[in-house]
Amino acid sequence: MLTTHLDRSTARAAVALANRAPSVHNSQPWRWRIGPSSIHLFADPARALPATDPEGRGLLISCGAALHHLRVALRATGSAGRIHRLPDPAHPQHLAAVELSPAPPTAEDLALAQAIEHRRSDRRVFSTWPVPDEFTADLARAAADEGATLVVLDPARQWEVARLVERAAVEQALTPGLAQEVALWSGRARGSADGVPAANVPGDATAAVPVRHFAGREMAQNELGRGESDGTLLAVLATDGDGTVDRLRAGEALSAVLLAATAIGLATDPISQPLEVAATRARLAADCLPSGRAPQVLLRLGWAPVSAEPVPATGRRPVDETIDAFDASW
Ligand SMILES: Cc1cc2nc3c(=O)[nH]c(=O)nc-3n(C[C@H](O)[C@H](O)[C@H](O)COP(=O)(O)O)c2cc1C
Repeated sequence: MLTTHLDRSTARAAVALANRAPSVHNSQPWRWRIGPSSIHLFADPARALPATDPEGRGLLISCGAALHHLRVALRATGSAGRIHRLPDPAHPQHLAAVELSPAPPTAEDLALAQAIEHRRSDRRVFSTWPVPDEFTADLARAAADEGATLVVLDPARQWEVARLVERAAVEQALTPGLAQEVALWSGRARGSADGVPAANVPGDATAAVPVRHFAGREMAQNELGRGESDGTLLAVLATDGDGTVDRLRAGEALSAVLLAATAIGLATDPISQPLEVAATRARLAADCLPSGRAPQVLLRLGWAPVSAEPVPATGRRPVDETIDAFDASW
């Protein structure tokens, strides 16, 4: 296989785009190393959220989303990435090695790369406009291409799932350290390099699915037309297994679905709260998925009302703070 020698500034720019990936509480729990013809992704345990995400599922899904963002960014620069997941059993934090080879970008590659800059988590209510079946079929294909299944829920299930989110929130409220963790990672000022800004959480939390209790809520809620109610479509992203690679691939699939949805113009909102509590995760699996499938993340999809204010971009750490020297010691 031909390999690509990436110049440092292109690799750094691709990593900067990868860092735009969504992550639980915008914790950005990853680090990168750039080699002559490869880029390496590492989990960053210093950015784990032990109270919110005790199993580390959200950390791995977030890293998987960053890995897929990196692949999209690289394709736009003319490099395909051959992925080796967990390439070094002696170092389980080394999540992936991306070996680069030349591949001319397609129009779709460029559209997905553009979607990276436009994607936001939108926690507001959505308009009643339905999401056409062709679009949900496209999103399901995007998930399947990454080895995951996107199960779109019957709107009749929405109420039950919203109650599961509420139940998870009640259980989490009793978890030692959770309130401190949420206070540390949210209620941030605009422009904060990580964490969830108050400007990204609606003050009026009326929505089909309850919004997580973040420390600050300053965003204006969408005004819907008379007789309109939140037109959220819910979907569960699931995998066959539930090991480290399954969770990493779930994150890659999450990124693929979010970017494809953004390219279509859909608003998106990942929700992991009911997957963070064992009892609600088991209930969600039993009620919504074919048996044996592992639920990884819940997604809200829909159209923002045409009058909606744009969602502000959340901050990211300076790119150089996320890159270690290639030969740094472990
Ligand atoms: C695995 C995962 C789980 C998430 N869970 C939630 C959630 O339960 N509630 C929520 O409001 N946002 C959730 N988010 C969204 C993040 O808070 C969001 O990605 C982060 O604040 C960065 O903002 P952005 O997506 O607008 O770039 C989740 C994101 C990921 C990747």
